Amino acid sequence: MATTRVLTGITTTGTPHLGNYVGAIRPAIAASRRDGVESFFFLADYHALIKCDDPARIERSRMELAATWLAAGLDPERVTFYRQSDIPEIPELTWLLTCVTAKGQMNRAHAYKAAADANTAAGEDTDAGVTMGLYCYPILMAADILMFNAHQVPVGRDQIQHIEMARDVAQRFNHLFGAASGREFFVLPEAVIEEQVAVLPGLDGRKMSKSYDNTVPLFAGGPKALKEAIARIVTDSKLPGEPKDPDSSALVTLFEAFATPEQAAAFRAELVAGLGWGEAKQRLFELIDAEIAPMRARYEALIAQPAELEALLMAGAAKARATAAPLLAALRDAVGLRRMVAAPVAAAPKARAEKAALPVFKQYREADGRFYFKLAAADGRVLLQSSAFAGGREAGEWVKRLKTEGSAALAGAPVVPIEGVAAEELVLALDALRAAAAE
Ligand code: TRP
Repeated sequence: MATTRVLTGITTTGTPHLGNYVGAIRPAIAASRRDGVESFFFLADYHALIKCDDPARIERSRMELAATWLAAGLDPERVTFYRQSDIPEIPELTWLLTCVTAKGQMNRAHAYKAAADANTAAGEDTDAGVTMGLYCYPILMAADILMFNAHQVPVGRDQIQHIEMARDVAQRFNHLFGAASGREFFVLPEAVIEEQVAVLPGLDGRKMSKSYDNTVPLFAGGPKALKEAIARIVTDSKLPGEPKDPDSSALVTLFEAFATPEQAAAFRAELVAGLGWGEAKQRLFELIDAEIAPMRARYEALIAQPAELEALLMAGAAKARATAAPLLAALRDAVGLRRMVAAPVAAAPKARAEKAALPVFKQYREADGRFYFKLAAADGRVLLQSSAFAGGREAGEWVKRLKTEGSAALAGAPVVPIEGVAAEELVLALDALRAAAAE
């Protein structure tokens, strides 16, 4: 069986809660143990910097997340587990991808669009408070994925668009730089949405989320904090002995996330038969604690030994870089960032044949600090040269006029004649450009 590469990133801004464990950590670790699967899990700490400018929180969250995943059973021998920021190839790839990503596509990215729409609704400048980090977030994420040629990326629904953007940019890069050599540098990744994984409800029944302040801590605070959180699960006020509706509280759903089907059925039956909520909470605590207590012990040992965590992550980074570095070397070569050894071959003619015959305007700035433009024929001969402009904008306006009005604009244009260029050739060239612009 061919191996499937599965990759996912965890943004290091928070402290893991029970919802993260049930919804992401536990299923990802289970999937990493399947045959034919090669997993890459990483701490997306560069992504964390986009949302968080509190260094202590970044530091703490990286440590807690690393310890949590390892304590929950991630096997660093089997899985390549690393910090994004330990892989310098990732930001380098980000730049190569940035250069082939359309700005218009980034304008449509959800995270940016949500911020821009909120600004507009509030009567603020569209981009108020928007950093380039947020704006380019999807490109960094594409680099995370493409760097390791992942086939599958398990993510939440909110991330599907980012995976589609990664596919797009991979395709564009393959086409631009791989077509000539017949090389597909990048695999086109697919988002994997785990339909069966339940969204865990929080204490109040809404989705468990830090933003609702309804979370149950996973390891933080020990069994005491777990018990206290469970005590705060909202129930109705039915007394022991009264029949309960098992679906009236998040308690049963939480129970089911840790129970066998038989245990869950028995629990429901007991509630219907009158089990008190207090007793039910005690059972829920015991069930969850039975699963996570051994992990908590490992977690605490790891947090107490940061040097061990550090060594594990550095070993993971070395393993990841063994994959990333050769691919990045091939990509550098493909775009032309090469060692200067062999004589370069002449630039390939531009693919867009229909435009090849058209002359082109070139704007530039001379050492005198002033701005100029010229018109070059398809064969490179200069047909027209402008006088000097103090500003680039003025030069640009003249280029625009000549392009849209053609030779009609020539009479008043601030240009100097070029020796040996016939007036008719210049007129024909400008009118060809005008015709092309009008298309
Ligand atoms: N953006 C993801 C999230 O917020 C985290 C992430 C960063 C990621 N890079 C990734 C997930 C690459 C999958 C693959 O959940």
